[in-house]
Amino acid sequence: MATTRPRVLQYGKMPLPQLDAELAQAYAVTLLSEQPDPDRFLAEHGAQFEYLVTTAALGLPARVVDALPKLKFVSSFGVGFDALDKDALLRRGARVGYTPGVLDDCVADMAFALLLDATRGLSASDRFVRRGGWSQGRFGIHTRASGKRLGIFGMGRIGSTVARRASGFDMDVAYHNRRTVEGSPHQYLPSLLELARWADILVITAAGGDGTRHLVNAEVLAALGPQGFLVNVARGSVVDEAALADALQHQRIAGAGLDVFEDEPRPLPALLALDNVVLAPHIASGTHETRRAMADLVLRNLAQFIATGEPEAEVPWS
Ligand code: DGY
Repeated sequence: MATTRPRVLQYGKMPLPQLDAELAQAYAVTLLSEQPDPDRFLAEHGAQFEYLVTTAALGLPARVVDALPKLKFVSSFGVGFDALDKDALLRRGARVGYTPGVLDDCVADMAFALLLDATRGLSASDRFVRRGGWSQGRFGIHTRASGKRLGIFGMGRIGSTVARRASGFDMDVAYHNRRTVEGSPHQYLPSLLELARWADILVITAAGGDGTRHLVNAEVLAALGPQGFLVNVARGSVVDEAALADALQHQRIAGAGLDVFEDEPRPLPALLALDNVVLAPHIASGTHETRRAMADLVLRNLAQFIATGEPEAEVPWS
C-alpha cells in the first residue's frame, strides 16, 4: 500500500546539498526559493503545509509564518535562532527544532583559529609572502597568544568549549554572561566593560538578537585597549561594526578576527581595507563532520516531531 509522504516546505537550499536530497527522499518537499513567485505560491498553497525546514542563516520572516495557517513545526539547521521571527512563530503556536551541541567543537576551533591568526598575523604573513616578501625585519613580529587573559562574552556551550581550549594555551579565563554559570571554574565579571578592561583577547560567543545588539561598542573596544584583540564567532549584530572598523583603523585595539558581520554577506567596506583584521565568511561550523551532524539532527528533529510531537532539540525561546 502506498504511503503518503508528509508535505514539507523548504524555505531555501541547505548548506549541505546531500541534505536537500535526503529531505526530498523522505518528504514531499517544495522548495519555496525556487518558486517563480514565492509570495503568490504562499498565498495559494500555504495552507497545505504543517512542516517547514530552514537554516539559522536564512531565518524565517513573519511574512512567511503568517502565510502558513497550519504550520506546526519548523526544523532549523543551525544553533542560532535570532533570524527566526519569534513573535510570529509563537502567535502561530509553531514549535521550532534546532541543532545545538553538535557544532561546539568546530566553532571553538574557529575561535582559536581566528585568535591565533589575528595575534600572530598569519593571514597578513600569507599576503606578504605571496607578494614576494620575507621576514628579515620588523614584519613577522606579532603578539604571543599563549599565557594571555582570555575574556569570553557568552559562557554557554560554545563559550565553555573555547575555555577548555584556552587551558592548553596556559590562558587565564574570565567571562561575562547574563548570569553566572554554576560550577564554572572561571572568574565571572559582572559587566562586559569590566571583562574588556581585564582581557587581552575578547571572544564573543553570546547569542544574537535584540538583547545583545551592539553591546560591543566604542566604549567596550576602548576598554579592550591598544594591545587588545577581538574575536567574533557569534553574530555580527553583537558588535557595532562601524565602531570596530574605526577602532582598528586608529589602532585603538590591536586586531580582530571575525567570522560574522552585521550585514551578511557584506562586511563593512572599511574593514576590507584593513590589514589588522582577519575575515571569514561565517564558516565556523563549516566542516564535513559538523555539517553532517547538523543535517542528521535537522532530520531527526523533523521525523521525531512528526512521529511523537516532540523534537529532540527545541529552541528555548526566552
Ligand atoms: C549557526 O548555527 O547559528 C551558525 O552560526 C550558522 O548560522
